[in-house]
Amino acid sequence: MPRPLVLLLCLVYLSSSILAIQGLDAELELPHRGCYYTNWAQYRSGMASHKPENIDPTLCTWIAVAFAKIDQNELTPLEWNDEGTFTKLVNLKTVNPKLKILLSIGGWTLTKPLVEMSSTAAGRATFVASSIKNLRKWALDGLDVDWEFPHAADKAIFSTLLMELRDAFEKEAKETGKPRLLLGAAVHLISDGGFDGASMNRTLDIVNVMVYDLEGPWDVASVGHQAPLFKGPFSQESPLNVEFIMREWVAAGISKAKLLLGLPLYGRGWLLTDGAASHGLNASATGPITMSAYTGEAGSWPFYEICDRIVKDKATVIYDENIQASYAFTNSWWIGYDDVRTITTKTKWMLDNGFGGVYVWDLAQDDFFDLCGLGRYPLLKAVLAATAAPPATTTITCTQPLKELPEMIIPPPSIKPTSTLLHTSQCVPFY
Ligand SMILES: *[C@@H]1O[C@H](CO)[C@@H](O)[C@H](O)[C@H]1NC(C)=O
Ligand SMILES: *[C@@H]1O[C@H](CO)[C@@H](O)[C@H](O)[C@H]1NC(C)=O
Repeated sequence: MPRPLVLLLCLVYLSSSILAIQGLDAELELPHRGCYYTNWAQYRSGMASHKPENIDPTLCTWIAVAFAKIDQNELTPLEWNDEGTFTKLVNLKTVNPKLKILLSIGGWTLTKPLVEMSSTAAGRATFVASSIKNLRKWALDGLDVDWEFPHAADKAIFSTLLMELRDAFEKEAKETGKPRLLLGAAVHLISDGGFDGASMNRTLDIVNVMVYDLEGPWDVASVGHQAPLFKGPFSQESPLNVEFIMREWVAAGISKAKLLLGLPLYGRGWLLTDGAASHGLNASATGPITMSAYTGEAGSWPFYEICDRIVKDKATVIYDENIQASYAFTNSWWIGYDDVRTITTKTKWMLDNGFGGVYVWDLAQDDFFDLCGLGRYPLLKAVLAATAAPPATTTITCTQPLKELPEMIIPPPSIKPTSTLLHTSQCVPFY
């Protein structure tokens, strides 16, 4: 066995046994493979409509429903059918008994009521009590706080909210004998200013680090990858990359086992000023890429739309070794995104460095309906394959011959397939 592999297995073993001894997340499956479920993706048309029925529960260790709202300081469902969604997600445990279902509050558009609620002791007390009551009513396993983003002025109330939630969750677990409700948070940059690392390390079970959206057509008139693993040659002005940000959170005092590396299952793109003639990282751009035909978002396409457009528009794909991430371009558009190889590299980097796991934003942007011919959920399957211990003596039996990957995600010939990824009906070579 090559030494890095032995080391890796030891790290995985060590981190899981440490958690088990502390009895913290005894029931959480490690490493984390968290999945955000977005309750608005059901409204997309045709095959792109994503519902609980579309989820493969073996691909996630937890699923967080984004988002609930806060109404009169109480935790409240946002969509008309959220309660039905919770039931369907909880029922997925019949297939994957270790699966945990969380509920997320906040997000970019719903952070204001979160801040208002947290600003008074009475608001927090109402919220904490309603969270316990409702999470138990819906048979959910915990709460995920996506405050985007706490600034220095919010530091005290953000920490206080988390502390009061954690204390109340512990008290309720002692009183009822039920497993304690889990508490997570999604965070971005330390420089947002409102984080107290030592306090967060005490209160949180899971810290989801949003290491994406680091560049986007909103800030610059030149292209750049939104989620580079490492610093690239064009990052002089902005040191932002996955490695840098993950290390900052470790330095802030959060234990690595709680830190999860966020994987974006979408890309961010621009229209090129000089067409394919100038396509490298930092090439000049005129503005955001055309709106997604599926999600309606400006400047961002889900992974399935990217792989489909790469074939239809005969795009060129470059895997940039410096940043360990891919981008695709034609004579007009450019998009930086995470493909099977990038996702695999990041997941292995996470394991090598002893972090607690990865999570994806979000389920509905992977190719869950097999638009590109890679099988359903090719990116989540890449995560699973990268975290799975190598099978000792198991032989994988394919019911159909090996399916070749479309050209756009085939790595250079120097890289050979390391294993075969099993899908229900076919086998796909896995790099
Ligand atoms: C990137 O492009 C911008 C805009 O064209 C330019 O100002 C900047 O100097 C470039 N950065 C590097 C490192 O070349
Ligand atoms: C963070 O919390 C864990 C227990 O959850 C503890 O073992 C670790 O020492 C803490 N880290 C710091 C820097 O306080």
